[in-house]
Formats: sequence, structure tokens, C-alpha cells
Amino acid sequence: EPEVIRDKAAMRAWSRRRRAEGKTVAFVPTMGFLHEGHLSLVSTAAAACAGPAAIVVSIYVNPSQFAPTEDLATYPSDFAGDLRKLAATGVVAAVFSPPDLYFRGSARRPADASGNGAISCLDEAGGDGHETWIRVEQLEKGLCGSSRPVFFRGVATVVAKLFNIVEPDIAVFGKKDYQQWRIICRMVRDLDFAIEIIGSEIVREADGLAMSSRNVHLSCGERQKALSISRSLANAKTAALSGNNHSQQIKDQIVQALTEAGGRVDYVEIVEQESLVPVERIDRPSVICVAAWFGKVRLIDNIEIQVP
Ligand code: PAJ
Repeated sequence: EPEVIRDKAAMRAWSRRRRAEGKTVAFVPTMGFLHEGHLSLVSTAAAACAGPAAIVVSIYVNPSQFAPTEDLATYPSDFAGDLRKLAATGVVAAVFSPPDLYFRGSARRPADASGNGAISCLDEAGGDGHETWIRVEQLEKGLCGSSRPVFFRGVATVVAKLFNIVEPDIAVFGKKDYQQWRIICRMVRDLDFAIEIIGSEIVREADGLAMSSRNVHLSCGERQKALSISRSLANAKTAALSGNNHSQQIKDQIVQALTEAGGRVDYVEIVEQESLVPVERIDRPSVICVAAWFGKVRLIDNIEIQVP
């Protein structure tokens, strides 16, 4: 049974004790409602530790990465179920599940009528509340950053806070959130966090749909239509590897497939794997990234293409 820790100081003390015992502290940050994708990160973490390991999973729905218009209020949760799944892995030693991670200023703007204005976007905190933010200035632009302007600021900041609380030796992120993973790698490099970041492969349902906590909000019909994402990405990879490497043509085909399936495209981009700079031809290690709406659900997916 993993130990459930809710307090920041207790978390840090726990982690320091484990390291004093000679264990490698491996960390998997999540927002809960865990699925096989999250659990695969735990396996990756376990495999990455050479000697004895202490694996920590955090469950915290970070309000600062949601814009006021986004789905903070409806973000799914099932703490008891999450704990059961983590216990079943047999390798998770602690679950960090803080009630809140931020200092809330008295000068904070009160929440709006729907209740999620001020808490979802901590912009207005200031005063004696939270006002320090991490921005990864280039990588946070484009892709998901275009339609979600405060998202990566919130992600980078909460991950830095979690790193300072958990003090892990290694941390694992899914490539499902490709831009997020690259942003965290860059933050760790630029700010000299002594943490090794590991990217873990995307886990898919049997039919190809990338696993996501938000998939539960898809109707049966929408879920079928959403398969156009993974299908068009797989087709694009085949085309690219067989010599059709013009980004624009490939993007057009994906947009067409998603639109025909009834999806509303947010973006389809083909970018260099590390810099996330768009490529005109897939003639170097690239990744095709997609975000599209099916019904009220925004889904993301991507596929890496290793050339040459
Ligand atoms: P969350 O969406 O819960 O995802 C937690 C981790 O699981 C992320 O690293 C994500 O990339 C990974 N993940 C989700 N679905 C996956 C899949 N199908 N295959 C592989 N990995 C998958 O990402 C976040 O939470 C938050 O932004 C967080 C980093 C916790 C900061 O709040």
C-alpha cells in the first residue's frame, strides 16, 4: 500500500529519508483519474532506477494551468480508484496528494459566479499570494500554447514546485503531451534542476485512441470519430517514411481526415523533435502534433518520425 502524503514538508522529509537509505527517488506527476498511460510511466520509472527505488506519484489538479474558460470544474477524479491502481502496481511507495499547492493572497479577486474564475487562473493572486511564474519562452509558443496561452506557464511552475517539494532524482513524463515533456526538459536544463527527465511512450487503447483522462467525456459516436486522429497520424508516418515528406501535403491530408470525421481542428503541425520548430520537409527527426475537438472534448496526439 502506498503511503498517502498530503503535506509539503512531510513529502520533502519522506523523500530525504528515502534518499538517506540509498534509494533513488523517482517521481511521476499526474492530475489523477489514472489510466494505463499513467501506470506505464510508473513502469518506466521503476525500470529507470538502477538500484533500490522509491517511486512517488503525485495527484494534483493544478488550477493554474487551466484558463477560466477551460474544464477545471469538470476535470474527472477518482482518488480511491487511483490509489487502488497504484497499489496494484506493487512498486509505488508514496502518493503525494496535497489539498492545495499555492499561497492564496487575501488580495485575490473573488471567484466569479461560476466559481472558477480566480481559482482556475491564478493571474490575479498577487498581494501576499502567488506571483512567481516560470516561462519557457520559445517552446511554450505554438502548438498547444497558441490556444492555451497560460497553460505551459502553469505547468512549468507547478512542476518546478513539485520538484522542489519531492526532490526526486528522476522524473517521468509521457510523450502524449509532447510539448509539455520538451518544455520540462528545457526548464530542467536552463534552471539546473538536478533531475533526470525521462520521456515515456504513448499508451493507446486497442483501437489506437491515445489514452487520456478526458476520453470519458466522449460519447460512443465521438469516440469512434476521434479514431481519425491516430489513424491519420499513422497514415502520415507511413507516407513520410515512404518518401512523401512534404509537410504541407501531409498536414492537409490530416486536416481533411479529421474534418471529414466531424472533428474541429485546433492545429496540425510538423515540427523538429527537440526545438519544436516547424519543418517544411520531414528530413530530420520530427514529430507530427495534432489537437482537435470532438464534441466538447479537446484531444491531442502525436507521432514521432525518426529520419534519417
Ligand atoms: P496528466 O494529464 O494527468 O498526465 C500525467 C502524465 O501522464 C503526463 O506526463 C502525461 O504525458 C502522461 N500521460 C497521459 N496520458 C498518457 C498516455 N496515453 N500515454 C503516455 N503517457 C500519458 O500532464 C499532466 O497531468 C499535468 O500537466 C502535470 C504534468 C501533472 C502538471 O500539472
